[in-house]
Amino acid sequence: MNKEGLRKLTYGVYIINTKDSGCVVNTLTQVTNDNVIVAINKENYTNTMLKKYKKFNATVLTQNTDMKVIQTFGFTSSKDTDKYVDFKTERDSNGIKYLKDHMAALIECEVKNEIDLDTHTIFIAKVINTKKLSDEEVMTYDYYHKVKKGVTPPKAPTYEKTKKGYRCPICGYVYEGDTLPDDFVCPICGAPASVFEKID
Ligand SMILES: Cc1cc2nc3c(=O)[nH]c(=O)nc-3n(C[C@H](O)[C@H](O)[C@H](O)COP(=O)(O)O)c2cc1C
Repeated sequence: MNKEGLRKLTYGVYIINTKDSGCVVNTLTQVTNDNVIVAINKENYTNTMLKKYKKFNATVLTQNTDMKVIQTFGFTSSKDTDKYVDFKTERDSNGIKYLKDHMAALIECEVKNEIDLDTHTIFIAKVINTKKLSDEEVMTYDYYHKVKKGVTPPKAPTYEKTKKGYRCPICGYVYEGDTLPDDFVCPICGAPASVFEKID
């Protein structure tokens, strides 16, 4: 199948926070007046916690969001780490934590339905409350890739396998190309070229 057309779809970048877990997503979408959907990979701990807790909030990232936030919430698992420990947090009306700095909005939701879609679960949720957090420009997925030089991790729905390149063993960033320059530094986590692993 030619997937070129899919690259023309646009998305935002968000953090889904639930009890003791949270992850970056690009798949949050408003589908009716007060309902949203989000696709979460079944291997993500946030999927497990969402199925149990059925409540979450989403924060809308802005162009000023620190890449450390995306590295923590998009490339590590809440199963092994407390992702919130290094950041200033607040709690929503359900007591669920969220990061407030450089976020544009908070959207509180309750899961109403789930659809099993092979690798992912689609959560259908009712919006309970929303709050504007700032007037900073929101971060689009395109901005994340083109300006912030961000990459797509394997568990994101938009992930495509790269044929050739070098992978950072720390955060999963893939440098596409035949030769990795000696002075290359991972744009996500700062790891040096010497630790990158070749992928064919
Ligand atoms: C820009 C970006 C977009 C992402 N979009 C999604 C998504 O829509 N759904 C998903 O399941 N994972 C997505 N991910 C991957 C998860 O954030 C990642 O697998 C995370 O480490 C899961 O953490 P957890 O195990 O604590 O839930 C995305 C990551 C990034 C950086």
